[in-house]
Amino acid sequence: MKQTIGLIGFGVVGQGVYELVSRRSDPGITIKKVCVRDRLKKRSLTPGKICYDLDEVLDDDEINLVVEVINDPDAACYIAEKALITGKSLVSANKKMVAERLPAFRKFLAGNGTAMLYEGSTCGSIPIIRNLEEYYSNDIFGSLSGILNGSANYILSRVFGDGMAYKEALSQAQLLGFAEADPRLDVSGEDTLSKLVILAVHSLGKWVDPSTVFCSGIQNLRPADIQYAASLGMKIRLTGNILRSGKGFSMFVIPWMMNRDNPLYHVENEYNAVVLEGEQCSRQVLTGKGAGRMPTATAVMSDIDARTSGYGYRYRKFLNGSGVEINGEKFLNIYLRTGSEEIIRSAGFVKKGDLRKSNGYYIFTGGISLSNLTRIRKQLDESGSFIALTGFDAGDD
Ligand SMILES: NC(=O)c1ccc[n+]([C@@H]2O[C@H](COP(=O)([O-])OP(=O)(O)OC[C@H]3O[C@@H](n4cnc5c(N)ncnc54)[C@H](OP(=O)(O)O)[C@@H]3O)[C@@H](O)[C@H]2O)c1
Repeated sequence: MKQTIGLIGFGVVGQGVYELVSRRSDPGITIKKVCVRDRLKKRSLTPGKICYDLDEVLDDDEINLVVEVINDPDAACYIAEKALITGKSLVSANKKMVAERLPAFRKFLAGNGTAMLYEGSTCGSIPIIRNLEEYYSNDIFGSLSGILNGSANYILSRVFGDGMAYKEALSQAQLLGFAEADPRLDVSGEDTLSKLVILAVHSLGKWVDPSTVFCSGIQNLRPADIQYAASLGMKIRLTGNILRSGKGFSMFVIPWMMNRDNPLYHVENEYNAVVLEGEQCSRQVLTGKGAGRMPTATAVMSDIDARTSGYGYRYRKFLNGSGVEINGEKFLNIYLRTGSEEIIRSAGFVKKGDLRKSNGYYIFTGGISLSNLTRIRKQLDESGSFIALTGFDAGDD
């Protein structure tokens, strides 16, 4: 199937996609128009190809595939909706849009021969979505944990590996093109959460509203936390988790203070990794670059190629109604650094461990339920406290 593409966005990822399509010089795949926003920016494109009006792409009957790689979530939703309604297929790298709007967008796909593919939205170059859809379609997963944000992992690698200051590491991640336009999404865990929601759809067949999932990031990480972890031979990784709890699953985003026995400990820089535990496949670790121009563009290119053979996700587990519940309770062992004694007292910690006080803050370890953690999340954020998962106690679900 010939693909006539309208490429919307010509930034880090868009330029990579353009380069890959140009290198290929395949008459079956052509970029007819490139839509951008800023008329004053200099571009390495023939002027006739550039346009500034989204509808010039979306109303073009010759274009049958819209590739959306912009950094504006509202415009991305407009593009996706109009493309799908007017019978064009869509390739997108926008995880926030996909995670939040997936059930609505799926309705537009029904029976009109179009598809929406978004491999580039999750874990950059790791072919995780199509593998979950196709290769693992018959397996039943017991857990999925991963480092899903290249920018946050790059920052953590620099502060742990090189002793670099957090802010400097974040600036470097931005310079290298790993960070989102709004880097708060990377460090707050929200970007990880969007990807986790997408992975839940394709691994367990269940969509969860992202606003209901516990999410804590690394924005409050301080040297004291790094020193604590390092003194125990541990590292901190920002992780997304879907773990078995009782008859269902619990889902959460959290920094994890882990030792070298955890495969995620060894994942450095902008690399991502997903650890899957399947009933049949057992433990599988998929790893690869999770951010940056070519790793992400490669995933987008793979979706473009997939459309040439008419591929679309089948959402087999999702449509079959997996019957899985993802709202389970889970008991987590936690490291907490806080200036607020009140949080320690009122949070509902059990199995209280270490409590130290130095330089005006407390360092505390204890066990807490996910529901109690969710209840105090705002307090933790607002008080500049930092929490990290340190492990689980068997049989506590
Ligand atoms: N960078 C990564 O490593 C990475 C990895 C995975 C996924 N992603 C995702 O890929 C997408 C693009 O990221 P990026 O890093 O390539 O962003 P970027 O470098 O900031 O580029 C964004 C591009 O979108 C264009 N744009 C923004 N709003 C527009 C609008 N309303 N109409 C037309 N064009 C518009 C901008 O136009 P101008 O050039 O005129 O400013 C720019 O070309 C995002 O959804 C991001 O989450 C990025």
